[in-house]
Amino acid sequence: MAAEDNLPRLSEQNVAYRNSQGRVELLIEAQLFFKFYESRKSMKKYTLYATMGAGFESVVAKELQSLGYQTRTENGRVFFEGDQSDIVKTNLWLRTADRIKILLIEFKATSFEELYDQVYDYSWATLLPVDAQFPVKGRSVRSKLHSEPDVQSITKKAIVDKMIDQYHRRGFLPETGSYYPLDVHIYKDVVRLSLDTTGDSLFKRGYRVEHGGAPLKENFAAGLLRLTPYDGSHPIIDPMTGSGTLAIEAALIAKNIAPGSWRKFAFDNFDWFDQEAHYLALEEAKTKVKILEAPIWASDIDQSILEVAKLNAHNAGVLQDIRFKQVAVKDFATDLENGIIIANPPYGKRLKDKESANKLYEEMGNIFRPMTSFNQYYLTAAPEFEKYFGRKATKKRKLFNGNLRVDFYQYWVNKR
Ligand SMILES: C[S@@+](CC[C@H](N)C(=O)[O-])C[C@H]1O[C@@H](n2cnc3c(N)ncnc32)[C@H](O)[C@@H]1O
Repeated sequence: MAAEDNLPRLSEQNVAYRNSQGRVELLIEAQLFFKFYESRKSMKKYTLYATMGAGFESVVAKELQSLGYQTRTENGRVFFEGDQSDIVKTNLWLRTADRIKILLIEFKATSFEELYDQVYDYSWATLLPVDAQFPVKGRSVRSKLHSEPDVQSITKKAIVDKMIDQYHRRGFLPETGSYYPLDVHIYKDVVRLSLDTTGDSLFKRGYRVEHGGAPLKENFAAGLLRLTPYDGSHPIIDPMTGSGTLAIEAALIAKNIAPGSWRKFAFDNFDWFDQEAHYLALEEAKTKVKILEAPIWASDIDQSILEVAKLNAHNAGVLQDIRFKQVAVKDFATDLENGIIIANPPYGKRLKDKESANKLYEEMGNIFRPMTSFNQYYLTAAPEFEKYFGRKATKKRKLFNGNLRVDFYQYWVNKR
């Protein structure tokens, strides 16, 4: 790729500003521009980290390791090293993470002066073009600087002041250009400033139509599948498939389809980012798609929700890979064997729904308990699920579906 292709875009404001200034100012700006370009070459190594829902750290770490990265895990974060092509690869391929961020700076601060000074010290003009839009999200946990709005506004002010100085602006920044989502996170007085390379969370794959039901997030569904031995080589059944999330994510795993294939990422708008890397990674991903080996079965009692599931599967390119069928649990039958049953039955959160949920769990027990060649996995918030299902789980894993505390009840064929 020609070096020029990799140059940051100059905004109209920037060009106008450059033209209306004297020669010296123009030269300084050109120097900065060169520095900006030089420091953002696509091979530059970054400290990166993936964020994820509570309880999925080890799942994301495993995914990163199987993509070839060495990882370090903290609560809610898995760190790794990489360049721009790794930013593309992880955004495109991670099924269970929320976001990929670049760790820009890390320091200790217990006063707002310290926070301001340390943020100001970073060379922001090497990251942000003069017209960048850069919202700053703030979060503070168990730290002296506990007021999140103040942390956020002081961080923003320090960046703005530094940019104004570095770009020789008088008083304001236009913030009309590309979008650079920043976040400042303080934990036990240690401040981390990061650039989000993802944008909308990775659960937003882009294949799903809105329908107002209670679907699982796509990365959560993929995370559940990763907690099972599923690799596409055995049949899988979701007998309460709803909008089809588990079945579709299973098909993407089985066929080795990159879950980020349909969407854009925040890095697509970074002026210094090698845009060809995204295109090349997508082309490479197409060559890695496999043929489905074992059946994927998805059924539900409700025909209208099955139509939504089919549309979603169509959008994800896996409609032909999933057998959809309208059938109530109590009438469920299959010839398949030696596979996985996974489902997210209704929780019966409201009192009047509780009884029908319990009845459904009983029906599930009657139908699925005898299917002893299947490893079975049920996600529900109902604490008495095992009682109604009629069997104690081999293992129960506590998870959070959004803010809701749930359990992933696991029934293994061969108790390990
Ligand atoms: C919580 S939703 C599943 C959501 C799904 N995992 C998704 O991501 O869209 C529960 C589903 O169970 C289905 N269901 C309820 N009772 C059923 C029954 N007796 N037999 C089969 N499906 C049933 C509902 O129609 C609903 O689609």
